[in-house]
Amino acid sequence: MQIECHPYAQRRHWQERLAQEGIQLECWFPLGGRDSKGAILQDPVITRIAKAHGKSAAQAIIRWHMQEGFSVIPGSSNPAHIRENNDVLDFALSNAEMVAIRALDKEKRYFNMSLEDQRKWFGQWNPTD
Ligand SMILES: NC(=O)c1ccc[n+]([C@@H]2O[C@H](COP(=O)([O-])OP(=O)(O)OC[C@H]3O[C@@H](n4cnc5c(N)ncnc54)[C@H](OP(=O)(O)O)[C@@H]3O)[C@@H](O)[C@H]2O)c1
Repeated sequence: MQIECHPYAQRRHWQERLAQEGIQLECWFPLGGRDSKGAILQDPVITRIAKAHGKSAAQAIIRWHMQEGFSVIPGSSNPAHIRENNDVLDFALSNAEMVAIRALDKEKRYFNMSLEDQRKWFGQWNPTD
């Protein structure tokens, strides 16, 4: 199941529910998405952990997703970022680092389309198409 999920909105209710049903969680906006303007990438806890491993903030966040067992496909139009985002298999976050990132959860979601706009947007969609 694909839902918005990143360190600032970890969706614990859904994590528990999907685990019970044996359904894989796939996180969209895994780095916070473009509208977050890099907020999670600049978080001091994330940057401290990244620095300790000689990695970028994006790599630390991707590694956190992987170690949580989430499916993670970051988006990027920058070839250097795409290479960087793939280079995450040569380090691992400690339990203390995983706990520190879990503690950043504040249900801050970056997809904020109003109900009115959602009705306009999805009202055009015919589920039988
Ligand atoms: N199912 C759904 O409803 C849904 C909704 C939203 C998104 N998605 C999918 O989820 C995937 C990821 O979503 P997303 O791209 O919107 O959000 P995202 O991966 O959280 O964030 C993308 C942003 O992070 C930046 N970024 C990526 N790698 C970086 C790096 N190494 N260092 C610094 N900045 C970096 C990108 O900028 P640059 O381009 O400059 O690297 C871009 O601004 C996409 O494939 C998207 O299609 C699905």
